[in-house]
Amino acid sequence: MKHVLCFLAAVFVFFFFSSFCEKNAADVLVVGTNAEFPPFEMRGGADGNEIVGFDIDVARKVAEKSGKRLIVEDMKFDALIPALNAGKVDMVLAGMTVTPERAENVDFSEPYYKVTQIVLLRGSDAGKIKKIDDLKGKKIAVALGTTGDTVASSLTSADGLVRFDSVFEAVMELKNGKVDLVLTDEALGGVLHSKNPDLARVDLPFKDEYYAAAVKKGNKKLLDQINASLEDLKNTGEMDILLERHFSE
Ligand code: ARG
Repeated sequence: MKHVLCFLAAVFVFFFFSSFCEKNAADVLVVGTNAEFPPFEMRGGADGNEIVGFDIDVARKVAEKSGKRLIVEDMKFDALIPALNAGKVDMVLAGMTVTPERAENVDFSEPYYKVTQIVLLRGSDAGKIKKIDDLKGKKIAVALGTTGDTVASSLTSADGLVRFDSVFEAVMELKNGKVDLVLTDEALGGVLHSKNPDLARVDLPFKDEYYAAAVKKGNKKLLDQINASLEDLKNTGEMDILLERHFSE
């Protein structure tokens, strides 16, 4: 009898907790990001270790709209699309550029920000790069799996390309004289240039790139909620206020 009671209690506890967990899973919205990309996502906030930034504000808005609690998962940039497709995150907001290759694997929201690639050089090398062709044969540092990586791959040989997990590491390598230049998005590149007076910035006619949120292919419900949130942010003027705030941080 005692055993039967124990068994029934265990079954009850099991079902109680599994329904609790399921309910929780339905109540949360998980955004994947790579918090090494200010002002779109970075560590900061009150304790310095919270993940903040423009993309996180957008993600919070989407969570609000869908009545869910937001959870932010930080990972390497090149792990984001696999995590989305494995169901580990519901959406990606990571200053991610829409590319035809990525669009084969995920669905993108409407674009929310436009950038292009820029070149960062040591100040002493300023003037050495004047056109895209001058990048050929140079030793270029990029962040792994980014559009900067794709552009650099089309310009230099495999030996000439050094890939890092973040643009910050690429810039360290540049400062240490180990590479000739860094290729990165104007958003972060501009911030790094203004904070590092020893660096020079060169703007070349690279293609325009557009940031968008990504969801698993076919997740129309979430995509609609993201697009509606972006629309709201634009219409209320909140988007410009948030961008301005994060860029001036
Ligand atoms: N826009 C570039 C890309 O999509 C770089 C994005 C890097 N974002 C980040 N959170 N590290 O490839």
